[in-house]
Amino acid sequence: MNVFVLTGAGVSAESGLGTFRDKDGLWARFDPMKLATPEAFARDPRTVHAFYNMRRRNLLAATPNEAHQALARLEHALAERGGSLFLCTQNIDDLHEQAGSRHVVHMHGELLKTRCIACDAVTGWREDLTVDTACPHCRRAGRLRPHVVWFGEMPLFMDEIYGALGRADLFVAIGTSGSVYPAAGFVAEARANGIRTCELNLEPSDNAALFDDARYGPAGVVVPAWTAIVMA
Ligand code: APR
Repeated sequence: MNVFVLTGAGVSAESGLGTFRDKDGLWARFDPMKLATPEAFARDPRTVHAFYNMRRRNLLAATPNEAHQALARLEHALAERGGSLFLCTQNIDDLHEQAGSRHVVHMHGELLKTRCIACDAVTGWREDLTVDTACPHCRRAGRLRPHVVWFGEMPLFMDEIYGALGRADLFVAIGTSGSVYPAAGFVAEARANGIRTCELNLEPSDNAALFDDARYGPAGVVVPAWTAIVMA
């Protein structure tokens, strides 16, 4: 069985990393247009670096929760039976990897990586970034940005993602509001391919009507319960 899982901020909520559109979410407290666009970074790189430095420090203090662990177990169980789990995440944290997931596709990039605007090199990065930090590869200073996809930029690995979506027997969305495209369009793509769809979320998402099946509750409870059924 080939399962395609799309995760969003809700899968990391119980690890303390907050979500975006819940009432106390990041975008309720910060303006994404001032912090998560290429124009914002060009206009005020210090403020954008400070925002991602704060999120990077929060991530370094966070640990995976039961939902991350359950998905790592599911990847292993499916592979053992000749099946596969394609784990596509909108999240820029590394909690899926920390929980043991081996193949994680970060369509919105990764907070613990930096990209050099001058030489395009992508480097693992766990420290604060400033406007003076030099690129480890080309040595030029002040050309490093977070390796994350901002609003108005193309998500990563889209060919690989649509290929996996076409091969899946089941599409599952976990902890995502279904409000940001192209990820929000994956469930419609799955349905067009005749693939069964399931939503695991705290509450019905914007896309809830498009899912054949749904289980609502905290990911740390709902995801292990669901993976146990799939593995059985
Ligand atoms: N367990 C399960 N689901 C939860 C939990 C939880 N403990 N807490 C919140 N949720 C659900 C919310 O109900 C909501 O539907 O997770 C979803 C989070 O939605 P968003 O905050 O919109 O996050 P996400 O869908 O990942 O956002 C997509 O938007 O700003 C961009 O790049 C950013 O990747 C992000 C994208």
